[in-house]
Amino acid sequence: MKLSVIYDSKTGNTAKMAECIVKGAQETEGVEAKAFSISNIDQDFVKESKAVIFGSPTYNGSLSAAMKAWLETEPVKLNVAGKLGGAYATAAFVHGGADLAIQCILTHLMVDGMMVYSSGQAKGMPVIHLGPVAISDSLGAYTELFCLYGKRMAEQMTEIFS
Ligand SMILES: Cc1cc2nc3c(=O)[nH]c(=O)nc-3n(C[C@H](O)[C@H](O)[C@H](O)COP(=O)(O)O)c2cc1C
Repeated sequence: MKLSVIYDSKTGNTAKMAECIVKGAQETEGVEAKAFSISNIDQDFVKESKAVIFGSPTYNGSLSAAMKAWLETEPVKLNVAGKLGGAYATAAFVHGGADLAIQCILTHLMVDGMMVYSSGQAKGMPVIHLGPVAISDSLGAYTELFCLYGKRMAEQMTEIFS
């Protein structure tokens, strides 16, 4: 079963964290996961995916304009309705608005008919409420969390769609 991660990334942080999600997702048996920049997407792979996770840098307390513009027009072309959806963000500051960026992405996913999931507090510690956030000057401190998030998303996808 396929899982896609789609991100915007200007300086590489959001791309790096996408690879952590991929790594964690692939720990689940039978799951093939791949990450794509919004500028270079394997459309067939995404269309075949049962879960799609979206990532953005935090810009001015929200998602990047590029990600916002992409979300306005492209997901519907990738038949995302009915798929499991999730979101994550990177940011410079813990108080920089990453949760708001994630919330905005999740709103787009609901508008497009996706089933939004994060694992919340249902899987115990560490809780992931809206989606995981990584702070840019210490990305390494968040790799384990992002792998775990990928694993939880893949497990939920498998539970729903098997
Ligand atoms: C134009 C611009 C606006 C930003 N605004 C914020 C912000 O409001 N809050 C924050 O925490 N970080 C902010 N940042 C920092 C980025 O969110 C952070 O460096 C992010 O990890 C960059 O992701 P990327 O390497 O994938 O491009 C901003 C960066 C830029 C370039």
